[in-house]
Amino acid sequence: MHADETAKCLARGAESLQAARMNSNSPELAGAPADIRPAVDGDVVPIQGLALDNGMFAPDDMAGFDEMLRGSLDGSLDETRWIVAKDAAGRVAGAACYAPEPFADRVWNLYFLAVHPDQHRSGIGTTLVAHAEQSLRTAGEQVARVLIVETSSTDAYKAARRFYVREGFDREARIREFYGPGDDKIVFWKSLR
Ligand SMILES: CC(C)(COP(=O)(O)OP(=O)(O)OC[C@H]1O[C@@H](n2cnc3c(N)ncnc32)[C@H](O)[C@@H]1OP(=O)(O)O)[C@@H](O)C(=O)NCCC(=O)NCCS
Repeated sequence: MHADETAKCLARGAESLQAARMNSNSPELAGAPADIRPAVDGDVVPIQGLALDNGMFAPDDMAGFDEMLRGSLDGSLDETRWIVAKDAAGRVAGAACYAPEPFADRVWNLYFLAVHPDQHRSGIGTTLVAHAEQSLRTAGEQVARVLIVETSSTDAYKAARRFYVREGFDREARIREFYGPGDDKIVFWKSLR
C-alpha cells in the first residue's frame, strides 16, 4: 500500500493532533452505552489490529498512527478522545478517535473509525458515532458546534461514505487529488446543535 493510503479518515496526523492541544476544553464522556468506554493502554494492540484488518494501513505505515494513539492514551495529546466498543465476549470490536480541529471554531474531527470486519453492519459504527456526538453535545456549544469527517473518494471507502450519509452527515466538500491522483478527499459535516 502506498504511504498516501495512511491518511484516509485518519485525515490529520500526529502533528495536527498535537496542535489540537491548543484548544482548552476537555469534555468528559457522558451517557455512554454500556459497551462503549474510553480507550486504555491495553487497547493499543486491538485498535492497531482494527486498522490493519480493515486495510486502512499497511504494517509499514503504522508509525504515525501508533504515535497518535499512544500519545492520546498517555495524556500528551490531551484533547484527543479514543473510545472503544466491546463485543459480548469483551473483545474490542470497534474504535473511534475524535479531537478538535486546531484552526477552527469549535469544530471537531472524527479522525478514526473502524469496526472489526467480522462485525460490519451490526450497528457498532453507529453506536460509536452516536457516543462521540452525545459526548460533544453534552459538553455544550461552547466546546463543540460541528463534527466533520474526512474520507477518500475511492471505491474502497464507498461503504464509509454511505455510512456517513446514513448517520446524518452532509456531504460538504471535495478536495480533488488530495490523497493522490484520482483519489479525492470527501468532507462530511454535521451540526451538533
Ligand atoms: C464504515 C464502518 C465504520 C461502518 O461501521 P458498521 O458498524 O459496519 O456500520 P453500521 O452497522 O452501524 O451501519 C449503519 C448503516 O450504514 C450503512 N452502511 C454501513 N456499511 C455499509 C456497507 N458496507 N454498504 C452499504 N451501506 C453500509 C448502512 O445504511 C447501515 O445500516 P443497515 O445495515 O441497517 O443498512 C465500517 O464499515 C468499517 O470499519 N469500515 C472499514 C474502515 C473504514 O472505512 N472506516 C471509515 C474510514 S473514514
